Amino acid sequence: YCNFLKEKSRKEILEILVAGLARQEYRGYDSAGVCIDGDKPGSVVFFKEVGKVAGLRKQIAASTFDVEKTTIAQVSIAHTRWATHGPPSTTNCHPVRSDPNSDFVIVHNGIVTNSTELRFVLQKRGFKFETETDTEAVAILAKYIYDSHEGARLTFTDLVKAVLKELEGSFAFVFKSKHFPNEVITARRGSPLLVGVKTDKKLKVDFVDVEFAGQDNEKQLDNLSSPSALLAVPSPSPKVLRTQSRAFMSEDGLPQPIEFFIASDAAAIIEHTKRVLYLEDDDIAHIAEGELHIHRLRRQEEGSQTPSQAAATRTIETLELELAAIMKGKFDTFMQKEIYEQPESVVNTMRGRVNFDENKITLGGLRAYLPIIRRSRRMVFIACGTSYHSCLATRAIFEELTEIPIGIELASDFLDRKTPIFRDDVVVFVSQSGETADTILALRYCLERGALCVGVVNTVGSTLSRETHCGVHINAGPEVGVASTKAYTSQYIALLMIALQLSEDRISFTPRRGQIIMGLHALPGQIKKVLELDKTLEQLSATIVKNTSLLLMGRGYQHATCLEGALKIKEISYMHSEGILAGELKHGPLALVDENMPVIIVMTQDSLYPKVQSAYAQITARKAQPIVLCNEGDEGIPKECKTIRVPKTIDCLQGLLNIIPLQILSYHLAVKNGCDVDFPRNLAKSVTVE
Ligand code: F6R
Repeated sequence: YCNFLKEKSRKEILEILVAGLARQEYRGYDSAGVCIDGDKPGSVVFFKEVGKVAGLRKQIAASTFDVEKTTIAQVSIAHTRWATHGPPSTTNCHPVRSDPNSDFVIVHNGIVTNSTELRFVLQKRGFKFETETDTEAVAILAKYIYDSHEGARLTFTDLVKAVLKELEGSFAFVFKSKHFPNEVITARRGSPLLVGVKTDKKLKVDFVDVEFAGQDNEKQLDNLSSPSALLAVPSPSPKVLRTQSRAFMSEDGLPQPIEFFIASDAAAIIEHTKRVLYLEDDDIAHIAEGELHIHRLRRQEEGSQTPSQAAATRTIETLELELAAIMKGKFDTFMQKEIYEQPESVVNTMRGRVNFDENKITLGGLRAYLPIIRRSRRMVFIACGTSYHSCLATRAIFEELTEIPIGIELASDFLDRKTPIFRDDVVVFVSQSGETADTILALRYCLERGALCVGVVNTVGSTLSRETHCGVHINAGPEVGVASTKAYTSQYIALLMIALQLSEDRISFTPRRGQIIMGLHALPGQIKKVLELDKTLEQLSATIVKNTSLLLMGRGYQHATCLEGALKIKEISYMHSEGILAGELKHGPLALVDENMPVIIVMTQDSLYPKVQSAYAQITARKAQPIVLCNEGDEGIPKECKTIRVPKTIDCLQGLLNIIPLQILSYHLAVKNGCDVDFPRNLAKSVTVE
């Protein structure tokens, strides 16, 4: 956070930082820290705490730091961490300093993959490290380069450029330095970053030009281990080709009071401003004297060229997000709130896209690309975790309606295999956050190979939604709980809508399409009915909570339901659970079944019902007492069975109703196990590292 010509007390500044951290806590919650200017010029004060932001807040409240003191220009930074290098501890907590005098202080998301080499080189030059983080090597590198060029009038931007050019991996950084008081630099490659702007008066223009460096004055610091490399470092003042900072001046052309908020996502700043710029990979934003300048780390012709990277301006956008959407309201947890939002979130996914009277689907974001997609010989869906499961859940109906073969890939495995991708492939990337590192890397891999890349994303403005050629926003609204719930059902519907739209030129599918669209119409009401099972599911959870393991089995459309249900249970209640394709039972998993193993079998009525009945017979023959997830009114289920009964819908939509009781069950298992539902251990909402 930085303010310019705007009076703020330290108390207000700390509140902005801590409240912002609390709103971003779902991204990582191992430890949290703040760095704010101290009393003496150039001095800084740190507050750091292991665990949740609430602990940090308490520590600040209990300190003797004079919080009433005011300032009209300053920079302060804060961070909530999801540990990659070094366990959670106050030492490893960010902000991280370069030295005991805190010449440079930084916060970092992502992983610097060559930090071990940098650490080695810097240690050889006599630098001492106090943390186990990869980030510290970056802070020390900044100090090293600065100290080596004392007197060379290196600008903060040039210095950070020189640092960043040495880094491999992914990052979003904020740099603060006592050598550059009241200035801040933020830069990204692979991790999301935005800058919020707050002024009392209207900004003059709605964009900021990117300042491209000239060709000659950019040199690489390409060999740190060689002392001569130091001579190659700076290129003070890159040749600025264009600049547009007038946006930050008032109508009379004078600097105006202004506040800047730098954050990984909009949730952290929404209560202060809705005016934001999303930074692109390799952007370096420099804020000083109330102005924001955006520079590029690489020259325009270098590196991979996605369409958005080539843009010469960054637009100041107005967020549509409302504060209420990221608050828990009457619910105890975000997960519970998001489960209960599903009757509305599925409507929002369909809003303006499904015409129930004319049985028609219109996805504006795909319109221009439909002919290319229809002609494609295959489609590949790429995602991770829950988003991957939504692809699995819709594969059969996609293949049926489009008659295009569909491959489904976990992003990490797709990359590990260096999977062949061709120019005539259509690749669909599914992601709630739009920031998952593996999925983004897979996207860039496919862009380089010339495939048409389609995004199915929840977060507007995210990297995936910007870098794909076209796509569909699922419009589920912000999902804060780490365990994905409403995004799954909305992804499912979005993928189904794509299949429906692609198949609209096939007359023979008209009746099937009509049935599905009718099913979609009834869905919100049916979801409401499923939510009424909450109490029953809570009681059911009490009967299995003491078990250490749980199997979920089903087949066809319901295989994905089982995998997703098992993922929900394991991630928030820490109970081992496994989703099993019922057809595979006798090829191994049946060995796990006995009278002590709890089993949930998904037996809703579709064409595979007889086959699932046979799986049921096989497990009960081994003394299992399965809980049967079945349709209301199904008389075929043995009377002695415990059942979870859901309304019946058309086969390809049934998974949307079946997953909801499993989400609720996982929630109750977690609560009964005393787990922190919204903050499961070791996980984070947005996985921006590989
Ligand atoms: C599980 C869960 C994760 C995410 C996965 C992909 O509840 O949330 O498995 O689905 O990390 O994240 P996105 O969809 O943001 O790419």
